[in-house]
Amino acid sequence: MQLAHKKILLAITGSIAAYKAAFLCRLLIKQGAEVRVIMTPASQDFISSLTLSTLSKNKVHSSVSDGEAWNNHVEIGLWADAMIIAPATANTLAKMANGMADNIVLACYLSAKCPVFFAPAMDLDMWKHPSAINNIAKLESYGNILIPVGTGELASGLVGDGRMAEPEAIIDQLSTYFDAEKSLLGKKFIVTAGPTREALDPVRFIGNRSTGKMGIEIAACLANMGAKVSLILGPTHLSISHINIRTINVVSANEMYKACIAEYNDANGAIMAAAVADYKPKEISDTKIKKKSDDMSIALERTQDIAAALGKIKTKDQINVGFALETNNEESNALGKLQRKNFDFIVLNSLNDKGAGFGGNTNKVNIYTKEGKKHSYPLKSKKEVAEDICQLIFSYFKSK
Ligand code: CTP
Repeated sequence: MQLAHKKILLAITGSIAAYKAAFLCRLLIKQGAEVRVIMTPASQDFISSLTLSTLSKNKVHSSVSDGEAWNNHVEIGLWADAMIIAPATANTLAKMANGMADNIVLACYLSAKCPVFFAPAMDLDMWKHPSAINNIAKLESYGNILIPVGTGELASGLVGDGRMAEPEAIIDQLSTYFDAEKSLLGKKFIVTAGPTREALDPVRFIGNRSTGKMGIEIAACLANMGAKVSLILGPTHLSISHINIRTINVVSANEMYKACIAEYNDANGAIMAAAVADYKPKEISDTKIKKKSDDMSIALERTQDIAAALGKIKTKDQINVGFALETNNEESNALGKLQRKNFDFIVLNSLNDKGAGFGGNTNKVNIYTKEGKKHSYPLKSKKEVAEDICQLIFSYFKSK
């Protein structure tokens, strides 16, 4: 029984796929979970609350008040170990993405302190609409966990994307989550991400093209596995909001260094995905630098090497993971950094690989361990690469 004693809040919204929620409820109970069901008014046109109360062996709520009694959405939201919104309609996703609370499902969602899984269900045209795509991206950036849709026959008889995942697939994803959650629960990690900016004067800086996406995906993955994460993030338009992630925004390499030192002591490790400037202007002008001659040069000095500094103070209970982005002599450069900075793993992306590197959604990496192992992976989304890295971190702690 993979979900023994887990408290699952199943939220049903108004889609034809609501009938699958009955199967899902039955499977959850079979896996040992304790299930409470909440339904939007619209969902009751598709499936009756009597079916769900019989299957869950609990009263079903479809309104924040049932006549005289007040259904405490805060209490329901806090009770759950996980909330699953299945099916989640385009309408519900839009309201969730915007903090609306005009029914019990939305009110519980806003009160929940547990991970929230959502299983979209809609027709292909809605699924492909930029509004729906943006809302789903927004919900994921808030730390909610998407249960990918299946492809195949839609409830409406059409074939295509947008069809709600099968109950068995939802149970699998939930079980993996709880398995993984156990593994990194109680651990804390630092993740550095994004670029740094080194000021020249009040208006100019030296920076780089990193967006922080890779590091943010790693932070999200560790957080989804139950770890607490201090995300030390350089200036980027990307952000993440997740109950297990505390973001510390920094600008310069020196600020990132100070934040890392402050956070490292009680951490189980550091994953250093930031593109930290290696040099900074020797002097920062208080006033805007005026042009004078035809050419000019700026004196630079080294920044603190954060990874090397953490490598020096690392204890036997901590693990450090570094990144290397190389254009030539990739492997030997990466192995050199692994040694110099006392990393346990180094993730190498080669700029020669199409689809790897800054800005994009994909990455192709090789990971080298200090024990001399090499793990090679095909081109994947940054989210999948993050999962591979976190899996190695998990195995490392498991083998200790
Ligand atoms: N790093 C860091 N602090 C720095 C520079 C780099 O923490 N001041 C970390 C990066 O986050 C990354 C790793 O060190 O995990 C490798 O960074 P890179 O800049 O490629 O290493 P360098 O040794 O500075 O590279 P090179 O010798 O190629 O300039």
